[in-house]
Amino acid sequence: MDHPLAASSLTVLRDERTPRSRFRPTLHDLATMLVYEATRALPTMPVTVTTPLATTAGVRPAAEAVVAPVLRAGLGMLPAALGLLPDAHTAFIGLARDETTHRPTVYLEAVPADLTGRPVLLLDPMLATGGSALHCLRLLLDRGARGITVVAVVAAPEGLAALESGLPVAAAAELTVVAAAVDERLNDTAYIVPGLGDAGDRIYGEM
Ligand code: PRP
Ligand code: URA
Repeated sequence: MDHPLAASSLTVLRDERTPRSRFRPTLHDLATMLVYEATRALPTMPVTVTTPLATTAGVRPAAEAVVAPVLRAGLGMLPAALGLLPDAHTAFIGLARDETTHRPTVYLEAVPADLTGRPVLLLDPMLATGGSALHCLRLLLDRGARGITVVAVVAAPEGLAALESGLPVAAAAELTVVAAAVDERLNDTAYIVPGLGDAGDRIYGEM
């Protein structure tokens, strides 16, 4: 996403001196911008609306969206997504990345059984190796979701490539990734460089 306000919020998030008390509202602001961009092609249906002066044409979303935050860090983007999509359903996916293998372990999958025909946004600030996103995308695809949008703050080239190669060709072609930045690379502990550190820890504290 190329926008001066998004770039300025991202700079605050990257800054190691930004305290938790400022990190959370700044992530909220940036997530609002990212979800706004991610819903640019949201299907709508025509309605009529009566103003104090006349009846005119309007629109409303054609289907109830599903927003899927990846715990923990994705929860920091959820209020912004629900602010823009107040009738959305929320699917919770709990993953923790193993610090040695960098593979995600699953501790929660609370996802609607049938996602057919519903716009789905996957919320996670960090797309690093792509392992966590791939797990979530496969789960959402299994439940019938199509044309999923991944909403991230920072993506690594390695993670974007993993999504491209790790999904069925048709699913990869229908996938959209909206991110505030695509960074340089992963380091040897699979952290994004320059990145912003451990997003979950910066929002909620270290575990
Ligand atoms: C972070 C981040 C992503 C994942 C990205 O979560 O929020 O979910 O790592 O890494 P990947 O692309 O290599 O899979 P983490 O597992 O650290 O959990 P947390 O949000 O609870 O801190
Ligand atoms: N998870 C994070 O929170 N940050 C990274 O840079 C990589 C994975």
